[in-house]
Order: sequence, then structure tokens, then C-alpha cells
Amino acid sequence: MMHIHKAALLLAGCLVATSTFSQKQSGETEQTGPRYLPEFTSSGELILPKNFNEWVFVGAPLTPDGLNGGKAGFPEFHNVYIERGSYSVFRKTGVFPEGTIMFKELQRVVTPQNANGSRTEASGVGYFPGVLNGADVSVKDSTRFASTNGWGFFNFHHSEPKAATAVLQPNDKCAGCHTTGAKKDMVWTQFYRLLDH
Ligand code: HEC
Repeated sequence: MMHIHKAALLLAGCLVATSTFSQKQSGETEQTGPRYLPEFTSSGELILPKNFNEWVFVGAPLTPDGLNGGKAGFPEFHNVYIERGSYSVFRKTGVFPEGTIMFKELQRVVTPQNANGSRTEASGVGYFPGVLNGADVSVKDSTRFASTNGWGFFNFHHSEPKAATAVLQPNDKCAGCHTTGAKKDMVWTQFYRLLDH
């Protein structure tokens, strides 16, 4: 009896949610909001995206040196952001729109104390975010980057300060690995709860 009651309530909740959604479909801008689109120099370099720290933060994979024989390929926290307006469109459509920017800011761990590279802090033993260390960025543009699966890849230094502009990276440096392992349209959505649906 209890179960039926709960199911009925859930169903009612879904119906309300569905009708609210279809009503909002007409108000496109209200639902998706303004977008910041990638900016390029005349020679095709990507200009360091503005205000990325205010975008939607989706996750921070970490592969520290201490757990990778002292020398990890990517030893930092990878703080990943998606441009806010593109995120709204993705949530609605399940597709990364043209012009989507993914921003991965690199951040070293605070100086290790323990053998596995971790530290002991007030909250426990673990890895703690330290100095920033440059950024990797990907941009969706199916025309401009047709030869690398519709996404262009850019490195804004593996150190600070970040470069003001960055050249397009060749397939074997970046896109190839994303083509092989990323779950959805060149993005590793399997590691980002907000995007994995
Ligand atoms: C050997 C494989 C590999 C290579 C090469 C590689 N990446 Fe990635 N990249 C990953 C993985 C795995 C993730 C997600 C997990 C993580 O950050 O550790 C990722 C995440 C990203 C993200 C966050 C958005 C997303 O797609 O998940 C960006 C942006 C990114 N990489 C850019 C670059 C750029 C720019 C280069 C080249 C300079 C590059 N990557 C080279 C494996 C790779």
C-alpha cells in the first residue's frame, strides 16, 4: 500500500516537472542564457578564455606523482569547467553545441609529506590543492576542427602565468587520446557527474 502511494506521488511529480519543462521551451534565452564563444586571433590562435573560473565546475580528476612512480603524465588536479551557456544547452539537448569550451586548469598538490605524495592535514590524510600550473582547453567547432573529430585542442602553458593565446595542437598530442577514450563527443563525461547523462 505504502509503495503504491509513493509511486503515485512520484508520477504526479514527474507530470508537474514535464509540463513546466514544455512551457519553458518557448523561452529559449531564459532557459539557456547568454554564451561566451571562443575568440581567435587573425592567425587562428585561441585567445585565453575570459572568466573561466565563473563557469560551471564539473570535476577535478587527480593523478599525483606520488601514486605514479614519482612521475605522472598529468600530476596535477585537473579542475574542469564548461562554459556556462554551453552547459545550459547541453543539459537541455544532450549535445555539446558548436562553440562549447572545456577549460582544464592545472593545479599542483601542496608539497608532499608522506611516501605516497600525500599530506596529513586537519581533515585527514590526502592530496590538497596548491599552486596553479597552466591550462589545457578544448573547443568544439565541427568546421574549423573537422580533421580532429570536431574539437580543437590548445595548451596555455604547463606553468603560470597562462599564455595569452595558444596554437592548435596536432592530433597526436591531444585529440587522438580523447578520440580513443572519452565517453561522449571527445569529452570524458564519465568523470563528470553533471555531464554524464
Ligand atoms: C593520454 C591521453 C590524453 C592526452 C594525450 C590528452 N588528454 Fe586531455 N584528458 C585525458 C583524460 C583521461 C581526461 C579526463 C580525466 C583527467 O583529467 O585526468 C582529459 C581531460 C581533458 C580536458 C577536460 C575536458 C574533457 O575532455 O574531459 C581538456 C580540456 C583536455 N583534456 C585537453 C587536452 C589537451 C589540450 C591536450 C594536449 C595538450 C590533451 N588534453 C591531451 C586524456 C588525455
